[in-house]
Amino acid sequence: MLSSKVSQKLNEQIGLEFYTANLYLQMSAWCSLKGFEGCAEFLRQHSEEERGHMQRLFDYVSKTGSLPILPAIKAPPSEWDSPISIFKSIFEHECTVTKEINALVKIAFEEGDYSTFHFLQWYVGEQHEEENLFRIILDKFQILSTETKGLFFVDQELKRIAQSRDR
Ligand SMILES: [Fe+2]
Ligand SMILES: [Fe+2]
Repeated sequence: MLSSKVSQKLNEQIGLEFYTANLYLQMSAWCSLKGFEGCAEFLRQHSEEERGHMQRLFDYVSKTGSLPILPAIKAPPSEWDSPISIFKSIFEHECTVTKEINALVKIAFEEGDYSTFHFLQWYVGEQHEEENLFRIILDKFQILSTETKGLFFVDQELKRIAQSRDR
């Protein structure tokens, strides 16, 4: 059974992963509308991954014999200036998620909840991967997107990444 402190923080994380899934889905729709099909496909796929992160937490809470409680999820923004501004805000958002995961790990350890502490290590590794992935994408944008032609190449590159992750 989870302590109330741990279960409250896990429920907050469920909400944050849900928000992240919605945010990336909304960004995907914006990219699709503006004709950046590669970015749209990549973000739609990434939204599904975030939904998976939410479900994994939800199932864990449930398996401990506690009731997962879904919090209110705020609406994501729906307007951006460019694909590069989208990927800049994603990188910042992922850094915030990492901070929240670290705070959760700290609470689990302090509460002596080593099962949750162990469960959360997957998220620690995942956040490391995601920060790295979005840093690489942002670098590509910063190198190439000064011209319209560059944006096209980044869009194609994201399509390639999305397709290789689908397999
Ligand atoms: Fe996530
Ligand atoms: Fe993420």
